[in-house]
Amino acid sequence: MTEKKASQDIYVFSRYLTEVDQRYRLAGNQEIFNGNFRSYIKRLIAKLKVTSFRDLEKYRNPRCASNCLPGHSIRTALLAMSLGQELGLKEVEITEIGVGALLHDIGKLFLPREILDKPCKLSDQEFAVIKTHSEIGYQVLSGQKWLPQASIDIVHNHHERLDGSGYPRHLIGDEIHLYQRIVGVADVFDAMTSKRNYREALSYELAFQEIINESPQLLDGRIVFLLDDLIKRNKPTERESSERLKKRREICHYPCVE
Ligand SMILES: [Fe+2]
Repeated sequence: MTEKKASQDIYVFSRYLTEVDQRYRLAGNQEIFNGNFRSYIKRLIAKLKVTSFRDLEKYRNPRCASNCLPGHSIRTALLAMSLGQELGLKEVEITEIGVGALLHDIGKLFLPREILDKPCKLSDQEFAVIKTHSEIGYQVLSGQKWLPQASIDIVHNHHERLDGSGYPRHLIGDEIHLYQRIVGVADVFDAMTSKRNYREALSYELAFQEIINESPQLLDGRIVFLLDDLIKRNKPTERESSERLKKRREICHYPCVE
């Protein structure tokens, strides 16, 4: 996997997401996912299945330095699928996780840009709008027969937390399916290690520490420790880390959806 290929993946996924957004605005919920989009998702999942965890940073495209939707979604999928592999899940299960992770934030396409792109921390009211994205994503994907129900449920529940403090349904403990817990951990880890409009990216180690501090109440500890193991085995070299930081300072040219 080269940086150029990873960058092309982000670019193509970004184009497809933009198309989905436009089709939705023109035709509502009908036919928003055309055949090209569906087969692209299939191809991307097949590719991510054989992509190493070590390639994660290559999906942090220099032209997408912030936590843009396409790059974030691909990295979350790669992380979640790697965690699924570590857990010894079957190929079909890893596919369902990957598809759900790729689409987990799709509801954000339908939220006001001025809130999504706001260059500072959001107010409580604005954050309440952002929180609607998992329900919107679920509604948009429901009835899409080409998608496994388990993947659609990931989109719905990826912000649920073990202690019931998550959203939108405030599920508790075992009510949150394993797939959703996996994507929840991957999503949080990628968000923390990505630059935001209002803060710098955390290192892998700092992000892990923060997750550990919150883990007992919020995230599945077993999955968090598997992630730690993956990080330790695939730690980037110093050169890779400094290149990564340099790239993050560059400007985002994609539609930038956090
Ligand atoms: Fe989300």
